[in-house]
Amino acid sequence: MFQHSKPLTSSAAARWRELLQRRAIPPEIRAAAPNDPSRHDPARFVPAATPEDTPSRRAALELLGPDGGTVLDVGCGAGAAGLALVPQVSHLTGVDSAEDMLRAFEQACQQRGLAHRSVHGPWPQAAAQAGVADVVVSHHVGYNTLDLGPFVTALDAAARRGVVVELHAVHPGAWLDPLWVQFHGLRRPPPATADDVLAVFAEVGIHPEVQRWTRPAQPRSPEAELDFSLRRLCLPVERRDEVADAVARLGPRHRDLVTISWSG
Ligand SMILES: C[S@@+](CC[C@H](N)C(=O)[O-])C[C@H]1O[C@@H](n2cnc3c(N)ncnc32)[C@H](O)[C@@H]1O
Repeated sequence: MFQHSKPLTSSAAARWRELLQRRAIPPEIRAAAPNDPSRHDPARFVPAATPEDTPSRRAALELLGPDGGTVLDVGCGAGAAGLALVPQVSHLTGVDSAEDMLRAFEQACQQRGLAHRSVHGPWPQAAAQAGVADVVVSHHVGYNTLDLGPFVTALDAAARRGVVVELHAVHPGAWLDPLWVQFHGLRRPPPATADDVLAVFAEVGIHPEVQRWTRPAQPRSPEAELDFSLRRLCLPVERRDEVADAVARLGPRHRDLVTISWSG
């Protein structure tokens, strides 16, 4: 069981860091994991041919305006956030710390005939190489980021017109918490939430517009979702059927999301 006796520290940035560190996978479980539990599979992030009309997309299109402009997508994965803005995006720069994600990003841009550039490296260290753009987007990256203050300050500095951040309302791994109890006897500490994110933003002087919304449960590839759950739970393929049953018992999963945007 997870023990945590110390109260969280008072600065929002320090509290954020502690919330994430407390949920780190215990070293003995991680060491025994057959696959890296933090790796993202590019196949799960392939951009939709027809982008979904979401508050995040609408906020970015509003910042781009009718004449469009350049976009920087931080933690781009396969490019879903930036490519949802085609044709208003004239050039798309993708930054990602994972090489395989950048290859998927390049392929998706080529398929759409979009001028693009990829920058390999972690944000904000890659900021100088990435340069500036009219609009900066960053979807589903914050909960990986211990130093959220410098991360968001660099997003702001890279944007001429504005920034759109999209995140889960609650840490995206939290839905698996009952399965950590079931498979590892591990009670997970409380997850970080978007309110913790917004507290860090306020601390660095960013007071954005916030839109909360829900994406209904979607029919996704059950195989890919099961691979994801197995990897996150640090379990071997032999436990696949048990995990499939446990995930099915959790029921359909809608996603509560938050769009956080501000003008540069
Ligand atoms: C959950 S995926 C989201 C991908 C994409 N933004 C989307 O919404 O489909 C997170 C991506 O952020 C990347 N990433 C995480 N932390 C990063 C950092 N500090 N700098 C750059 N990329 C990062 C990961 O490699 C991964 O591709």
